[in-house]
Amino acid sequence: MAGDITFTMIKPGAVKNEHIGEILAMINQAGFHIVSLKMMRLSKDSAAKFYAVHKDKPFYESLIDFMSSGPIVAAILQKENAVEDYRKLIGATDPAKAEEGTIRKRFAESIQRNAVHGSDSDETAQWEAAFFFPEIERFYKEP
Ligand code: CDP
Ligand code: MG
Repeated sequence: MAGDITFTMIKPGAVKNEHIGEILAMINQAGFHIVSLKMMRLSKDSAAKFYAVHKDKPFYESLIDFMSSGPIVAAILQKENAVEDYRKLIGATDPAKAEEGTIRKRFAESIQRNAVHGSDSDETAQWEAAFFFPEIERFYKEP
């Protein structure tokens, strides 16, 4: 059953800097259930498809290069109000503007290398989750 979910990635910078464990711990401590989890490397083509919504932005090409530069950790997270609550936990896109205690404030290196991805709406969360995980790789928490 697809309850309230969001989709996240731990980006190549945070993986390279050995922050997978700390970030997953913050996610669990904030009350999210991990529905799906995997480590993988995105091809340039997959990264381009995932971020296609930004294809006209000046940062698109460098974002694609960065996101395909090394392994990422992809996950589906479940919680009531998951999308909004996870955006609060990760903080602003620009770490200089992120609040204390947020994942990006702690682990981001720059606006691009900002540690994690988080879905921006329920609709996007469903699409992003489906991009990475089939139903048989999802383990929802039952109420
Ligand atoms: O990830 P978020 O939804 O907070 O931001 P976005 O506006 O959807 O942008 C997607 C990603 O593009 C960001 O997380 C950054 O990694 C990158 N970005 C960038 O490289 N330069 C910018 N000026 C803005 C975003
Ligand atoms: Mg976004």
